[in-house]
Amino acid sequence: MSKTKEEKAKLLSQKIEEAKLGGGKDRVEAQHKKGKLTARERVDLLLDQGSFQELGMFVTHRSTQFGLDKQNILGDGVITGYGTISGRLVYVFSQDFTVFGGSLAEAHAQKIVKIMDLAMKNGAPVIGLNDSGGARIQEGVVSLGGYADIFYRNTLASGVIPQISAIMGPCAGGAVYSPAITDFNIMVEHSSYMFVTGPNVVKTVTHEEVSSEELGGASTHSSKSGVAHFSTANELEAIQYIKNLLSYLPQNCDEWTEELPYQPKNERIEALNHIVPESPNQPYDIKEVIDLTIDEGTFFEVHKNFAENIVVGFARLAGKSIGIVANQPAFLAGVLDIKSSVKAARFVRFCDAFNIPLLVFEDVPGFLPGTDQEWNAIITNGAKLLYAFSEATVPRITVITRKAYGGAYDVMNSKHIGADLNFAWPTSEIAVMGAKGAAEIIFKKEIQEAENPTEKWQEKELEYNELFANPYNAAGRGYIDEVILPEQTRERLIRGFKMLENKADKLPRKKHGNIPL
Ligand code: HXC
Repeated sequence: MSKTKEEKAKLLSQKIEEAKLGGGKDRVEAQHKKGKLTARERVDLLLDQGSFQELGMFVTHRSTQFGLDKQNILGDGVITGYGTISGRLVYVFSQDFTVFGGSLAEAHAQKIVKIMDLAMKNGAPVIGLNDSGGARIQEGVVSLGGYADIFYRNTLASGVIPQISAIMGPCAGGAVYSPAITDFNIMVEHSSYMFVTGPNVVKTVTHEEVSSEELGGASTHSSKSGVAHFSTANELEAIQYIKNLLSYLPQNCDEWTEELPYQPKNERIEALNHIVPESPNQPYDIKEVIDLTIDEGTFFEVHKNFAENIVVGFARLAGKSIGIVANQPAFLAGVLDIKSSVKAARFVRFCDAFNIPLLVFEDVPGFLPGTDQEWNAIITNGAKLLYAFSEATVPRITVITRKAYGGAYDVMNSKHIGADLNFAWPTSEIAVMGAKGAAEIIFKKEIQEAENPTEKWQEKELEYNELFANPYNAAGRGYIDEVILPEQTRERLIRGFKMLENKADKLPRKKHGNIPL
């Protein structure tokens, strides 16, 4: 006899309960013992309460090899669906380590692909919570195919919808390449790691002894490699970072970020007058300038511990979301090198892709010299930043606070490469190079022939300084639109970005550019 309606409803609720159990009580306990949340707990914390709509809860794998036919767990190790964060639609997948170690194979990948396709069609961000042993070994090549299906979509979605990855457990082998293509990676200290090959393979091939944490933990990737944009103390913090980050972003490349209400007030910030020291060689913290200029407490720094000689992050100015790129004189004198150029270039491209206006604070003595930089291609890598600014069509404003020397002057959002407004503080020094080096080169003969060469050198240095270490030559040419007092900065920026809010600019027609990779 066929089942009654009640029995059928009961079967449904039994199946839902079964799916919610994932890999079973013991494995859930093991997950908790490691200080990790389960895939479902993570989704619940991430999304607005009650907003999660799961898709594909009953999907299972179709493999029969290596005894898999006897282990068919509903959901196939990943929870997928959509919901809201602060009322905004997002798509989410969350890998369930309690099911085959969260490993990815055909059905698991198809579930992720389904929500990525929906996200693209509906123009909303995708958030991936990664916790996986990588390709499901028992399923062979379909696992590899599944990964590639995801990588392909990550690439097509790049620049169309924001893609955010949180790494909350292992992420090894080719699995790392999906987060690598997404816009932001958030890692959890001591419980997540990413590497192409693990410590055992490393030992066999290079004879290096290294722990998982040292090789690819959150601290390594957020400070040494830059693979991780954020390193968080625990999973709750990681989830909070995702929410904060999203608040600065639009839903897709055709939208603008939501503007928060803002009450105009006296925008003169007297404290800004006291930050740049009298001596041009003394450091100061550019983050103080940022904090005083933007809406209070809104700076959300990206890549905080990586390439600290440049600071990048999101903020709000008069309620509007902006992206900030700033040389940091307090670290390596704010010099541009390979890592800082790449860090800033990727950030600039993200902001440009998602209509986030760019503000640049400039205090840069130039590019870092040396064999290490040259042999590792500072030429190509420095050009990335130049290229990224040059092709950015969002509103762009630069404020030179002190040094703007050499090629770095051109690169850091100069008027010549498309900045809309360029301001300089009276302490600005805009020149081909610093006075000491300049005097040595152009007055070489005079210095050598002088009775007292050191005195002559100092005299010529002073002469060069008087002539060039100021903003007025550049302002005289119109390269600088206005020389302003530091205290006027916030007011000028608010006014400037307001003036630029309807900016419409287009790049020449092309298939795509060829950024120096
Ligand atoms: C199938 C896997 C698995 C995998 C883990 N499991 N990884 N099952 N395929 N890749 C299963 C385990 O058998 C175990 O099942 C459960 O998940 C938990 O694993 P444990 O080893 O008990 O957990 P733990 O000690 O925490 O170690 C986690 C781990 C380890 C470090 C991830 O499991 C591991 O090294 N796994 C293999 C990683 C790997 O080599 N993956 C392939 C990479 S190559 P039971 O039933 O006991 O609970 C790759 C290529 C992708 O990914 C290429 C794309 C282009």
